[in-house]
Amino acid sequence: MGLFGEEYQADPHPALAELRRDGPVHRVVTPGGVAFWMVTRWAEARHVLADPALSKRQPVDGLPPELQAAMATQMLLRDPPDHTRLRRLVTAAFTARRIEALRPRVEEITDRLLDGLESPGDLIEALAFPLPFEVICELLGVPGDERGAFRGWSNTIILGQFGTAEFTEAIGDLVGYLRGLFDRKRARPTDDLLGALVSAEGDRLSSDELVSMTILLLIAGHETTVNLIGNAVYLLCRHPDQKKRLLDDPGLVPAAIEETLRLASPSATTTYRVTTQPLTLGEVTIPVGEQVLVSLLAVNRDAQRFTAPDVFDVDRADGGHLAFGHGIHFCLGAPLARLEAQIALGRLLSRHPDIHLTVPWQDLRWRSGLLMHGLTALPITVAAS
Ligand code: HEM
Repeated sequence: MGLFGEEYQADPHPALAELRRDGPVHRVVTPGGVAFWMVTRWAEARHVLADPALSKRQPVDGLPPELQAAMATQMLLRDPPDHTRLRRLVTAAFTARRIEALRPRVEEITDRLLDGLESPGDLIEALAFPLPFEVICELLGVPGDERGAFRGWSNTIILGQFGTAEFTEAIGDLVGYLRGLFDRKRARPTDDLLGALVSAEGDRLSSDELVSMTILLLIAGHETTVNLIGNAVYLLCRHPDQKKRLLDDPGLVPAAIEETLRLASPSATTTYRVTTQPLTLGEVTIPVGEQVLVSLLAVNRDAQRFTAPDVFDVDRADGGHLAFGHGIHFCLGAPLARLEAQIALGRLLSRHPDIHLTVPWQDLRWRSGLLMHGLTALPITVAAS
């Protein structure tokens, strides 16, 4: 059973279960000939994600030189001490207060998007995709009338193919736009995340790092959250008994989001690292200089860690999923992603308790590739409200 065929795209879990049963780590070669190691068990994954002997540095090839630095200086691709400095700066700006202050706006945006939900319709297009984009614009402080162009570049970057002319042009346009936006925020300080980061610029944050950080927040915060919202609605439609639990007790919505993160981890394998020392996992020793990816999708269903791991259970008591990573690179945006997903699911169910899929769940189409786990479309119907 392979990781690269249509069968895997339709349902990755049988192949991942087979690998997990065989051992904690496996050598994988892509159809394009790229070799890496994939970790499939929870205990080893926790170790790998936090082991300082694994580096996050990754070359960003295939972009014109003037755009390289704007992509490569992001903290997700850095090790300490650079990572520590960048993470500290953005953490100071990405405060719990700033996230919580977004709550009414997230509710407003969700309600507006739900007002436009058609039946039958596509929940990804109507809600899951636009919501995180609008929210990230609010957080960063992208002015309302500039969001159309911003959305165009952002979509090309997220949905497009790295290295194509269209992709490179979108990055170039986005970088140009951001540099202009920062100039304006320098001239007239604003009380938003980019305003706070601009004021940290100078000795502590270079201008390329500022651009790179913003692009990281935009990209890391968008598609993953789209997948989380889509996967949560998919799982509830597929398991009517669990949906009924939530309708009877809406206080379980946060638990349903955690269970979705575990069972259908949106960021399936986006955990690149490279060995700087030989790494022994089980009976395998990985040499220096090899790429290692943790399959979060696989490790979050490890029976050594979770009881009845393949069951979707909103009353589950065993936490500890690794869907947001672990260690110093633990997802910075986890509180924001949780806030958005909880509001989206809570509002959707209270307005449309009768929501259901218009096609059998087996016919739904998933995004291709190993990195992300999310639906391309989620066809649903709801009764008129
Ligand atoms: C890092 C998942 C939403 C910003 C990560 C990592 C994971 C992850 C697994 C660690 C990668 C690694 O260790 O190699 C997710 C999921 C999300 C989500 C599943 C939604 C459901 C967001 C949002 C934002 C965000 C909304 C920001 C607005 C970041 C950043 C990092 C990161 C900046 C890098 C942290 C560092 O290097 O220190 N995310 N993420 N993420 N995430 Fe998220």
